[in-house]
Amino acid sequence: MTKEATSPALGAAREAYESFRARGLTLNMQRGQPSDADFDLSNGLLSVLGEDDYRMDGLDLRNYPGGVAGLPSARALFARYLDLKAENVLVWNNSSLELQGLVLTFALLHGVRGSRGGWIHERPKMIVTVPGYDRHFLLLEKLGFELLPVEMHEDGPDVEATERLAAGDPSVKGLLFVPTYSNPGGESLSPEKARRLVSLRAAAPDFTLFADDAYRGHHFCADPGEHDDPVNLVALARDAGHPDRAFVFSSTSKITFAGAGLGFVGSSEDNVRWLSEYLGAQSIGPNKVEQARHVKFLEGYPGGLEGLLRDHARLIAPKFRAVDEVLRAELGEDSEYATWRLPRGGYFISLDTAEPVAARVVELANAAGLSLTPAGATYPGGVDPTGRNLRLAPTRPPLEEVRLAMQGLAACIRLATEEARG
Ligand SMILES: Cc1ncc(COP(=O)(O)O)c(C=O)c1O
Repeated sequence: MTKEATSPALGAAREAYESFRARGLTLNMQRGQPSDADFDLSNGLLSVLGEDDYRMDGLDLRNYPGGVAGLPSARALFARYLDLKAENVLVWNNSSLELQGLVLTFALLHGVRGSRGGWIHERPKMIVTVPGYDRHFLLLEKLGFELLPVEMHEDGPDVEATERLAAGDPSVKGLLFVPTYSNPGGESLSPEKARRLVSLRAAAPDFTLFADDAYRGHHFCADPGEHDDPVNLVALARDAGHPDRAFVFSSTSKITFAGAGLGFVGSSEDNVRWLSEYLGAQSIGPNKVEQARHVKFLEGYPGGLEGLLRDHARLIAPKFRAVDEVLRAELGEDSEYATWRLPRGGYFISLDTAEPVAARVVELANAAGLSLTPAGATYPGGVDPTGRNLRLAPTRPPLEEVRLAMQGLAACIRLATEEARG
């Protein structure tokens, strides 16, 4: 029997991987969640309302009246965050994804302003950016949209491809994407591209931008010039003569408590009325107690909502720097194994392996006790045609675990690559 020759590089990679695996660690880099230290910053939320705090804005928080668009103080607070007026904002309950689902469902049933009817009758298609957020794909697929992927570039979605798709087909109803510190690549939309998107000529008269601005304020450093400036799509759309074209969604899920904060949306006043009409048919109004609790807590936090985000940055930024440092040290500068980019904010890092070995990397990592986001998750249907993309989520584990996980990831990438190269 002839023994297969093993290249020295493959042998060394296997040895490094086996010694990582032998450590028997349990590490998790797939959860895009805040850490306990992040949550602790908002524990004041749990006690900020006392027994007598059941009034705000002249309303009794315990009773129904108050309207469907949210507590005036909450609308004003998140309007400042979105760089809009309170009239342009609707504050709902605990999830921006739910709000996205509601708006899309109403669009399917009734159309948006300017539609001829419900989109469901037109076999609707939605443009999405790739790599992207798996829950966007899941939501759109479950609602019956056909997904049209365009690439995410360093300054936002591939606008040429978006324009081509939108111009050619009236059933292409819009673009769903993350405009600031995108999931997973951390790219932000440039003002130039934003202007092109709000004014692009679409075959559908009701072509709509669904901007999930989940990380709009999540800068690693708030100093001028050190962060990406979020664009104001609602104002730009108005100036471009398409006042109803943009819905901008966000939430406090990564600011206060994940899934126990507030989701909100900004758009034209007409769109806020449009949405209120349908939401008002299925609910008398959102949870005003939760809204008042957030207003009181965030307004009382040192530096307000921005102050809280600065405190998160102090916890999160070192973890992102650690990912970059360890990968550079282990895989080399201008690495022959992978490319990645250190963003200036957000929650994720997108990494592409040099060979199409992402699935093998995840398999090796799992076998060594390191959980990674499944390969393919950043593409519609869970299938990455490049076979290269991996999403890294450094926020949840403590800093030291992030370092260890990156050493392990590097070992997996080197082994998978050397295996592929033979
Ligand atoms: C881009 C993006 N949008 C939305 C969410 C979830 O937001 P919410 O908790 O407000 O539904 C996430 C969570 O990871 C996200 O990455």
